[in-house]
Amino acid sequence: ELGQYRHYMQKEIFEQPQALASTLELIAGGGSISPQLFGSQAADVFGGVRRVLVLACGTSYHAGLVARYWLESVAKVPCTVEIASEYRYRDSVPDPDTLVVVISQSGETADTLAALKHAKSLGMTRTLAICNVPESAIVREAALRFITRAGPEIGVASTKAFTTQLAALALLTLALAKLAGRLPEAEEGRYLIALRHLPVAVQKVLELEPQIEAWAQRFAAKHHALFLGRGRHWPIAMEGALKLKEISYIHAEAYAAGELKHGPLALVDRDMPVIAIAPADELLEKLKSNLQEVRARGGELYVFADAGSEIAESEGVHILPMPEHYGMLSPVLHVVSLQLLSYHAALVKGTDVDKPRNLAKSVTVE
Ligand code: M6R
Repeated sequence: ELGQYRHYMQKEIFEQPQALASTLELIAGGGSISPQLFGSQAADVFGGVRRVLVLACGTSYHAGLVARYWLESVAKVPCTVEIASEYRYRDSVPDPDTLVVVISQSGETADTLAALKHAKSLGMTRTLAICNVPESAIVREAALRFITRAGPEIGVASTKAFTTQLAALALLTLALAKLAGRLPEAEEGRYLIALRHLPVAVQKVLELEPQIEAWAQRFAAKHHALFLGRGRHWPIAMEGALKLKEISYIHAEAYAAGELKHGPLALVDRDMPVIAIAPADELLEKLKSNLQEVRARGGELYVFADAGSEIAESEGVHILPMPEHYGMLSPVLHVVSLQLLSYHAALVKGTDVDKPRNLAKSVTVE
């Protein structure tokens, strides 16, 4: 079943172009953006929505965090993202005009299901489940569903489920923007082209595997790692850190790069590899000065840099050239390189990649 691959995780990383193409099938060819992508009732449920609340756990929570940047910048809808296990037990102020979006690969995560039920019990009936398993408990509980078509994900570390969740959330962002009259036709056309081209763009990142593997060899012996990102790539730094700790047992933390000097910079020395996501976007210059701060303290930098970002390789600064900047969808490309990095670090360490210690694929107990 594994074919040419050594582990399910590797196979699932490499299945991403196909998984994305299937998930985005409805907009392939002549398809356009519409609430219908989320079911026949979607126009009613979305109409009058004033806010979005995303509830999820783990990797699915990180997908929600990326979506917050999209929803607020493109659809101009205020968005809050919350860990399901926190939301379900705290006092919150319900708002019936909020669209509650739950994200789950398995559809069986106990805390996410309970958070959804909790939101409903507070009178929030506009609910959408983004899920990879059609007949799961979470899907049955939600008013609307969007089924990602990643196919079965066996590896405990979530990979293709995450990128297909991002694809679904990009569609949601555009659907809400269109409904609110904030998506001019020309812009919709540009987003559609980018989405349709996404599988090919991901394929290009997968081709970087040999270089990423060489990097993994270099720092697999370390005990700690720091991941830095800014803006919509900060949640990708968080996801990279989660992947690394989950399967290679290397302690990793993610920071919004602007937070460095508010504490974590104290940790940086020669033994602390710093992995930075450097998209060629509006925050690049800010990120560059953050990287200089790291270098000045002797920290070794591993930078995933988009073409055109003009960060030069130098002593202690390793650059992995990524393809051209991919705009709003750039997080989808950057996470793939971090998945490969953690996979290869785990291989060097000889851990059980598909079944890391102490973890279950589906967390059906709280
Ligand atoms: O099935 P779900 O998406 O609800 O699962 C949520 C988390 O348990 C899951 O994403 C977990 O964090 C992964 N093992 C991370 O790789």
